[in-house]
Formats: sequence, C-alpha cells, structure tokens
Amino acid sequence: MTMQTTLDIDIQRTQSSRLSQVDFNNIPFGRIFSDHMFIADYSDGEWKNPHIRPYGNLDLSPANSAIHYGQSIFEGMKAFKSEDGRVLLFRPYENFVRFNKSAERMCMPTVSEELFIEGLRTIIDLDRDWVPPQEGEALYVRPFMFAMDDYIGIKPSDTYKFMIFTCPVGAYYADPVRVKIEEHYTRAVKGGVGYAKAAGNYAASLYPSKLAREQGFHQLIWTDGQEHKFIEESGTMNVMFMIDGVLRTAPTGETILKGVTRDSVLTILRDWGMKVEESPMTVAELVSALETGKVTEAFGTGTAATIAPISAIGHKDEVFDLNYNKDTAMSTKILNELEAIKRGQIEDRFDWNMAI
Ligand SMILES: Cc1ncc(COP(=O)(O)O)c(C=O)c1O
Repeated sequence: MTMQTTLDIDIQRTQSSRLSQVDFNNIPFGRIFSDHMFIADYSDGEWKNPHIRPYGNLDLSPANSAIHYGQSIFEGMKAFKSEDGRVLLFRPYENFVRFNKSAERMCMPTVSEELFIEGLRTIIDLDRDWVPPQEGEALYVRPFMFAMDDYIGIKPSDTYKFMIFTCPVGAYYADPVRVKIEEHYTRAVKGGVGYAKAAGNYAASLYPSKLAREQGFHQLIWTDGQEHKFIEESGTMNVMFMIDGVLRTAPTGETILKGVTRDSVLTILRDWGMKVEESPMTVAELVSALETGKVTEAFGTGTAATIAPISAIGHKDEVFDLNYNKDTAMSTKILNELEAIKRGQIEDRFDWNMAI
C-alpha cells in the first residue's frame, strides 16, 4: 500500500507485522525493532527519495566509507503512550538541533527540520501500536546518518543515508548504578568531538568501560582530557550531585554532550525553586564532599536511563557508598515529575511534548 505525506514519503507497509510476537511485559533494551524504517538519500548536494520500508537489512559495499572512516552520527529520543491513547514524543526539536551540530562537526550534510520532524512523525505514526503502554516502558526512536561512498581514502563522503527506526524498550538500568571516576582514559578533549553524538565516541569508551566493569562498576564518570581534574559526564548520561542542598552539574561545552534530559531536569528544579548550579567541579571537591557526607544524592540523566540513581562512586582505591533510598530520594521525585509530563498525566507546562 502506498501513502503520501507533505514530504512525499513513499511508504511500503510490511505484509506481515511482527507485533504479535512481542511480549510487552518483558521487553529487553534495544533488541526488538518495530515493523518499519525511514530512509532518505543524500547525493548531488541534496536530500532526496524519502521512503519507508519494512525494517530489514541494508545493502552495503565492503568499501563503505562509514565503516572505514567513521562518518556516522545518531540521536536518541522516546515516545510515550498517554492514558487517553495519544502518542507523545519528548522534545524532538532539541534532538534535531543536536543532530545537525553533530553533522557539521563530522563534515556531514545537515538535514532540514521538515525531513527530521516529518520523518519522525510518519514512522512513529505508522508503528504507533508498537509504543508500549506500561509505566517504565517507551518507544525508543533512533535517527542516524552515515556515509555511503564506496571509496578507500580519507575525505568527506559525497553520499549519505539518513534513517530512523524505533524499538519498544523497557528499563535501561534495573538497579541503582555504581560508577567509577576515570582519571586515565579520556572521552573528549577541547577541540575534539565530545559534544557530538558521533559513533566513534562510543567505540572509544568501550575499553575503559570494560575495565571499570571488571572492577565491579556499571559506568564511568569521565574527567577532562587535559588534566583529569574536572568531573564531566558519564557514558550515556550527564551526571548531577546534590551537595549541601544544591544540585550541581558540569556546564556543557565542547567536551560534554548537551543532554536533553539534563536540561529538562534543571528546568524542573528551577521551576520548583531549588538551587541549581552549573559550574565546573573538581574531582578533589567531589571527593572531599563525599568524605564529609555532604553528597546526599548523585544520579545520571539520559534518554535511555531517564534518571539513574548512583549508589556508589569509586575513586582510586576507595569506594564511597551513597545511602540511596528510593522512597525519600529527590531523584525519585524528579523522575516521577518527568514521567508524568512525558505521559501527559500532568500539564505539559514547558511545551515539551509533540503529539503524533
Ligand atoms: C555521552 C552522553 N552524554 C549524555 C547523554 C544524555 O543525553 P540525552 O539526555 O539527550 O539523552 C547521552 C545520551 O544521549 C550521551 O550519549
């Protein structure tokens, strides 16, 4: 069946939906993909041929330059089912802006707002039955772009694909996380690509993260690449600390991803009249606050994990346990507020949701 939108997207629907095979009471993160995918092609200096096909494999040359030289970027956001049956996509314009920032840094073409937003609307609408209704679950939405030239040699590709697929997901972390302050390996440096959602950033983080896991931690807290003196962010999350009643987090810049969840949490806290400080924090300052019991809470913020409470922070040979208590934690209150907004249970007072 073929359908048209304002973007003139050619849509081919699947003949056999896989929806009935999904156990919505037990969804693993990132392994189940909805029925369709959105694709647009870039060549001769413009995006063309927006189309939707049944989710499936791609045909790639072994010389595909994204595979060899890494021109590959992505985004991540979530859509939720509201109690009255609407599908709400959380803050997609923020992801649109960040996607184009990543594209510019990686010397890739930007996408128009129409292509990004209409692509999202159409693919999510088509697979709207895949948005899980349960609390704690969502439809994860993955826009991405990668080079398509078949060329061995270092230069920006002339051709690209922009794609979007979605997957129903459950919780990213089931339990509070243990994190380790990393003072040897580096995620990002000034002048580098840390602020971009570039695929290679994640590949580079795998080895140090593996070492941390072998030491009993789930994640790292990265420090600055120059001196390893300042706290930056975590693997897929920005990090926040409640110290002496003030919510502290690092300012975003060249080396820290400008998280949408981070901004949402700061906005809510300011709205509640809480003290929020975006300022550089040294490792020494954090460790001293941990030693004197001034850190009452720490948590990560990110689309996948939403709010991930931190139960322990490792620094050199020491591990500082935080007495995380779900019932009394500020992070629980923030999580509940965010979830209620995303699911349309309370007023969307910051105008964050896009109804599909
Ligand atoms: C490195 C990194 N930091 C922070 C975040 C959190 O960003 P957001 O809240 O927009 O998902 C992510 C996830 O996208 C990330 O990959």
